[in-house]
Amino acid sequence: MKLCIIPGDGIGSEVLAAATRVLAVLAPEIETVAAQAGWTTFQQTGSALPAETLGAARAADAVLFGAVASPSHAVEGYRSPIVALRQALDLYANIRPVVGRMSGEQHHSTEAEAIDLVVVRENTEGLYAGRERLEDDGNTAIAERVITRRGSERIVRQAFELARERQQNREQETSQLPRRSRVTLVHKANVLRVSDGLFRAVAMQVAQQYPDIAMDELLVDVAAMHLAQTPRRFDVIVTTNMFGDILSDIASIHGGGLGTASSANLGPHYALFEPVHGAAPDIQGRGIANPLAAFGCIALLLEWAARQGKIKRRWSEQRRSSLLRNAIEAVSLAGICTPDLGGSATTAEVTTAVIDMLQ
Ligand code: NAI
Ligand code: MG
Repeated sequence: MKLCIIPGDGIGSEVLAAATRVLAVLAPEIETVAAQAGWTTFQQTGSALPAETLGAARAADAVLFGAVASPSHAVEGYRSPIVALRQALDLYANIRPVVGRMSGEQHHSTEAEAIDLVVVRENTEGLYAGRERLEDDGNTAIAERVITRRGSERIVRQAFELARERQQNREQETSQLPRRSRVTLVHKANVLRVSDGLFRAVAMQVAQQYPDIAMDELLVDVAAMHLAQTPRRFDVIVTTNMFGDILSDIASIHGGGLGTASSANLGPHYALFEPVHGAAPDIQGRGIANPLAAFGCIALLLEWAARQGKIKRRWSEQRRSSLLRNAIEAVSLAGICTPDLGGSATTAEVTTAVIDMLQ
């Protein structure tokens, strides 16, 4: 299997350097090729996503992306390379898992409880389809919300497939009867009757093909409250583009924040894995960027590659992604963490500790 590595700008390259060290230990059989993108690349070449980079991404089985520093002001010829990559590679499913713990105090009981949920966000249409215009001499701004049967069907199917896989994993990991997987459909069909009406109707049809998976639905505003207050009620959430963008940021709080949030962008032919965070210019070059979000990307990559039959699933009789997640947890419990998590370790120290734990 071939992996295209695009570090990008700022801490993007710092956390990907750390992640590449971990990958070399866990999956030495994966061949890697490096490619350039981002603001520095734009200044050097005049393109934020050069044709060679897009070619290298297409020639690889998957992409590992760091972060890019996009300017806040419009710059002639500059376009965000990550948005361009998602569109060029048709990466329609943005998968954002959150694993964490809620303290007893937060949910009014004495015991800490585990949170394990994933937001499945449609990545190509909805309100972010880019269909905006001014009318009425610039006095009226209109954004069109695009929902298609095809787009809705494939994202909901993705969510149910993921729910089924999570169910199977839980069955393998416990001898007791595990919690049944559930997909929660999030929409606002009571107001957006036509667009979310179509999304909801298509989702209900897809759900009938998955009788083994439970399903429920929530209006997006209530879903936001539950995500903040009772996150344990969720397993797999599936929703349209902007709702997913907002809900996944609320959800990430439960995992420890931006330095720990990872995502997979999946499409019919390609997969791209990236931390949710950006280039973090405020801490770049200081060696203190939290590499855990990037390590989480390696775990997602290994799971995806095993599912696709691109690598062998097991290593020393265990899932490689589980080994990595266990190592990350052990290192965090030992207090070896970067300043954003309250520690004083450097990126390199956390990386070495995780690798030592793996070996
Ligand atoms: P950011 O995610 O880069 O940083 C937000 C805050 O979180 C900063 O205080 C930063 O130090 C902290 N932080 C982020 N990741 C961290 C990590 N791994 N370890 C420790 N602390 C971490 O978002 P911001 O500041 O809004 O944007 C900075 C630049 O990044 C902008 O140019 C923006 O366009 C770009 N960006 C790129 C993204 C991407 O490439 N996918 C996503 C978000 C922003
Ligand atoms: Mg967002």
